[in-house]
Amino acid sequence: MKIENLTVRYGSFTAVDGVSIEVPPGGVVGLVGESGSGKSTLARAVSGLVPYEGRIEGARRIQMVFQDPYASLDPRMSVGASVAEGVRAPRAQRQAEVERLLGLVSLPAEVATRYPRELSGGQRQRVAIARALGAEPDLLVADEITSALDVSVQGSVLNLVKRLREELGLSILFISHNLAVVRYVSDSVAVMHGGKLVEFGPTEQVVDEPTHEYTRSLLEAVPRLVRH
Ligand SMILES: Nc1ncnc2c1ncn2[C@@H]1O[C@H](COP(=O)(O)OP(=O)(O)OP(=O)(O)O)[C@@H](O)[C@H]1O
Ligand SMILES: [Mg+2]
Repeated sequence: MKIENLTVRYGSFTAVDGVSIEVPPGGVVGLVGESGSGKSTLARAVSGLVPYEGRIEGARRIQMVFQDPYASLDPRMSVGASVAEGVRAPRAQRQAEVERLLGLVSLPAEVATRYPRELSGGQRQRVAIARALGAEPDLLVADEITSALDVSVQGSVLNLVKRLREELGLSILFISHNLAVVRYVSDSVAVMHGGKLVEFGPTEQVVDEPTHEYTRSLLEAVPRLVRH
């Protein structure tokens, strides 16, 4: 997926200003930046949810997973029904497909009969990911998917993202305000600041030799332990 010179305006305010990013097939690009820097707005443009100027090419089927799984899961629908809704398989094969998708995100098949409120936050986020995968996306846009989770389960969801990428060859635009989290899952890192892209390159390069003062300040906020 290729984003070229993307600009998104809300009235006279420019939330995303001329951003160009490429997510190669099977690649994970991390998008990082402080609150209000325009990350979710870029995600919404990529998903066709807001009008934009510029070009977005290459990804036909895009699925989004959000910070709050309640945004993508209907609380009145069982997990099985929610996951089945997005599935592309014919009706007779849906149940088996739902079980396969739950397995992909390491949830037991019996979770299908439960409702979102009967799950932990981490389990709910796994269900939201399973539901997105059912649509067979060629790009997954993950917007702060671990930010609302307890620290103890954040790691397991990040490992799930890594595993899905390896097993399915999924392309992922992984958004977080946390550079440590982004660094852990991404091949390249894009840094946004005030709607502009201030840095974009291979993860190691961005982390080890940041060219922009803002990236350096983000790095300073990352606890030493995870910086190696
Ligand atoms: N629907 C809207 N109408 C007007 N302004 C908006 C709208 N949505 C977002 N904005 C503004 O656009 C800017 C970018 O918002 P956005 O949600 O993209 O930031 P973000 O980087 O995702 O932040 P966060 O880390 O808090 O999620 C902010 O200044 C925000 O107030
Ligand atoms: Mg956001």
